[in-house]
Amino acid sequence: MDLQLDDRVIVVTGGSSGVGLALVGDLLSAGASVATCARDLERLQAATGSLPNADRLLTHECDVLDPAGVSSFIDATVQRFGALDGLINNAGQSLMKRFDETDTSEWMAEFELKFSSVLNPLTAARPHLAASDAGVVVNINAVLARQPEPRLAATSAARAGLLNLTKTLSIDLASEGIRVNSVLLGLIDTGQWRRRYDQRPADDARSWEEWSADLAADRGIALGRLGVAAEVSFIATMLVSPRASYVTGTSIDVAGGVGRYV
Ligand SMILES: NC(=O)c1ccc[n+]([C@@H]2O[C@H](COP(=O)([O-])OP(=O)(O)OC[C@H]3O[C@@H](n4cnc5c(N)ncnc54)[C@H](OP(=O)(O)O)[C@@H]3O)[C@@H](O)[C@H]2O)c1
Repeated sequence: MDLQLDDRVIVVTGGSSGVGLALVGDLLSAGASVATCARDLERLQAATGSLPNADRLLTHECDVLDPAGVSSFIDATVQRFGALDGLINNAGQSLMKRFDETDTSEWMAEFELKFSSVLNPLTAARPHLAASDAGVVVNINAVLARQPEPRLAATSAARAGLLNLTKTLSIDLASEGIRVNSVLLGLIDTGQWRRRYDQRPADDARSWEEWSADLAADRGIALGRLGVAAEVSFIATMLVSPRASYVTGTSIDVAGGVGRYV
């Protein structure tokens, strides 16, 4: 199936690892020109440099929490490729802390991350997305938005707010021809979970396979395993495709059945 992404220009924030890196590779393979950013440019370039079709890739050092830096990133994208059709807000991380362990500054930082990582790129990209005949935004979010996890108290609350905002944006930006959707992740095997595995207690001798299988069982993942970045990338790429032209204001779980809501 032709996803009609040839010659489309897509921005993916946080492209050096995990979901973002899979998205950059899949979008390049689908024919798109891709611009991606991260705070560590050296790591970003090392991760993406050998991807097929990297001649259609722009890498840029940028913290999505810095409005001026994000604006320069979007300007550089449009200067290089001449347009901007899609924005995938992927950069971020979570805060594994319960309510009683989370101090005020951590609450504020978590809300800042979840909202500014979307609002800064959207503000800079919006005029270009509106000028496209297929403008689209995809927010990479989490099942936590609908199903709070007490071990991730601030992250769950911030994710719920972002899901709510995404619906508002889908209504407000429709008049500019911009579609806005979410992908809700469960537990995906990326840098985030590998870092947590590396930080396990010294006397925990389990392999990654054993540790992640126990994690999947503990969290009640119906499919019995963590997902992989390519499984998220497929759905986000589908949503960003002009062929999904009648899809806006919705969310799709990529979570192996961990969500218990209907
Ligand atoms: N993996 C999961 O189970 C899971 C579950 C639910 C939601 N998510 C969300 O899905 C998204 C991707 O997660 P992942 O697991 O693929 O993460 P990852 O492997 O840790 O990659 C995160 C990427 O984002 C970049 N990044 C982080 N903060 C940034 C910032 N302030 N400005 C610019 N770039 C930034 C990182 O590069 P630098 O560090 O160099 O900036 C890296 O490229 C995140 O928003 C995450 O919270 C993941």
